[in-house]
Amino acid sequence: MNREFLPFSKPSISEEAIAEVVACLRSGWITTGPRTQKFEEMLGEYFGAEGVQVCSSATAGLLMALLALDLEPGDEVVTSPLTFAATLNTIVLAGGKPVLADIDPATYNLCPGRLAEAITPRTRAVVPVHFAGRAADLEAIYRLAEARGLRVIEDAAHAIGTEYRGRKIGSFGDTQVFSFHPNKNMTTGEGGCVVTRDAGMRDRIMKLRFHGIDRNAWDRFSKRGLPHYDIALAGYKFNLMDIQAALGLHQLPALDGFLERRKILAARYEERLAGVAGLRLPPGEPTGDRHAWHLFAPRIESRAGMDRDRFMEALKARDVGTGLHYQAVHLSSYYQERWDFRPGQFPAAEAVCAEIVSLPLFPDLSEADQDRVIEAVRGVLGG
Ligand SMILES: Cc1ncc(COP(=O)(O)O)c(C=O)c1O
Repeated sequence: MNREFLPFSKPSISEEAIAEVVACLRSGWITTGPRTQKFEEMLGEYFGAEGVQVCSSATAGLLMALLALDLEPGDEVVTSPLTFAATLNTIVLAGGKPVLADIDPATYNLCPGRLAEAITPRTRAVVPVHFAGRAADLEAIYRLAEARGLRVIEDAAHAIGTEYRGRKIGSFGDTQVFSFHPNKNMTTGEGGCVVTRDAGMRDRIMKLRFHGIDRNAWDRFSKRGLPHYDIALAGYKFNLMDIQAALGLHQLPALDGFLERRKILAARYEERLAGVAGLRLPPGEPTGDRHAWHLFAPRIESRAGMDRDRFMEALKARDVGTGLHYQAVHLSSYYQERWDFRPGQFPAAEAVCAEIVSLPLFPDLSEADQDRVIEAVRGVLGG
């Protein structure tokens, strides 16, 4: 059959967003400038937060937030083993020791009980991950953090639009880092932002983001600015360009619609894949929360002749793409060799990592294409 390969993710870019990018290209100012400033203001309104700072990626945002903690050698930061490399890598790059606490198999997020056990006198911070866009157990995490004097840097890469007990992630708590990578809930090509209620951290990030300079190029080179500057610290170059912000200006107002569509598609998957032998549905939306459905990631139970990897191959042969979020990050060579992680340490996460697979889910996925996925899944699993 001659049909197109269906990717597991695809961004939805409107004609207005494309026109905005073109207008930016024609404007004479394409790096950080007026569109970035406007995008930051819109994000500030969205979160109801002061001083939202956009940056080149969530990885950059996590690194800057963690660097602002001034970790000393041996200081520990606890996170979830069910995450992307960036969550652990940035802890290491900021000078910390990555410590893991297993997930709750019912939520795929950090288990508060395991987290409490992982905290030592050297623990400085916790990095909960809102896996797949489902909020972590923030009440328990913040209670523990408060009792033990820990900072909380939420890895909210999957979670713009997620709500926890009626409140948006990013509108409360310590610090949140979001991603605008193309497969995320909204995109700027590459990009991210940091929201923090800590004014000192905001100041550090502003400098870390751009060479240690306390003003951006637009403020220095536009009519109102002065080109002179001071270097307050040795910073990075993690700024977002106006070409990227041009996309964000149109993605943010569309976000609610994107999430509504994701929710409808996730509900269709839940309904039509329920009861398929060998497939376990992902944790659903908790009452009172909003699941952003960044991923729809069921588990494929291993049995004779079938496992997750074979399942992915078989779907590919039927022109259906899948994603793998995630391989167990602590079992990669670097984390085993340098940080002594071993198989079997985090059994709940390892079991999920061995079986999880992300099915196609994005706002422009048509119901006909989703039915193609469902048919392929049933065909492969014999359901
Ligand atoms: C949980 C998590 N954290 C951090 C990141 C890093 O995001 P970015 O690609 O914007 O650097 C990702 C990206 O996939 C992620 O999934």
